[in-house]
Amino acid sequence: MRNFFLNSKKVAKDNDIVNDIDMSNIPKHIAIIMDGNGRWAKERKLPRALGHKAGVETIRNIVKACNNLGVHYLTLYAFSTENWKRPKEEVNSLMKLLVEYLKKEFEELNDNNVIINHIGDISKLPDVCQKELNDAYNNTKNNTGLVLNLALNYGGRDEIIKAFKDMYEDLQNRKLNKDSINSELIEKYLYTAGMPDPDIIIRPSGEQRLSNFLLWQCAYSEFWYSNINWPDFKKEDLIRAIYDYQKRERRFGDVK
Ligand code: FPP
Repeated sequence: MRNFFLNSKKVAKDNDIVNDIDMSNIPKHIAIIMDGNGRWAKERKLPRALGHKAGVETIRNIVKACNNLGVHYLTLYAFSTENWKRPKEEVNSLMKLLVEYLKKEFEELNDNNVIINHIGDISKLPDVCQKELNDAYNNTKNNTGLVLNLALNYGGRDEIIKAFKDMYEDLQNRKLNKDSINSELIEKYLYTAGMPDPDIIIRPSGEQRLSNFLLWQCAYSEFWYSNINWPDFKKEDLIRAIYDYQKRERRFGDVK
């Protein structure tokens, strides 16, 4: 097995702040709204597509860092249900980057025990993307390491509408009865069924909104924002986010 995922001791040498993070309280599920690729490119007078390309490099580094740190789930908002409104060339370049990423990274991710999962309605994605995503999932689903959730054609409202429709069908077919509807049951109808809710949502680039991401799941998530554009987001920024997260008091509506 190739050792691209450093162990935590090695990470600790890389950056002082790692010495201050509590390795027994690493968030189980980190979700990231990858933002600022366009601005990163604009600042450099480059086409937007090159901003997304640089963003893929960050994905690579952050996936490795999360696996090193023992994060169980990493959900990346890669393409929203609203992103179809973007110019056709930009949508095409994002789809191309996705296929390239899966082809190029598959072996290393698989060697390092990562499950390459996706959430969202991928049936609207080009056939080649669907094939790569399904192959990547089928070939890694028995791994036991980090679950990498790529959110593609994903929208929180869309996910909830889909859950309503599926539940309605099950009610009609008498697979469900009204009295069994509760939070746990609704979660079973979401793309994230069986996964813990995100402990922390990270949004770089200075924006402070949720943009239709994990609407049901983030009821008690901690939010962490920074002004760094996604292509400039480094492992140290992830560690800072975890450090800040560990300093927060999570009360889930209770009192301490
Ligand atoms: C937001 O930045 C970013 C996106 C909508 C796409 C994110 C996708 C990638 C990083 C690469 C493709 C995905 C994979 C999984 C390989 P923006 O374009 O909205 O930035 P801006 O707000 O500065 O314009």
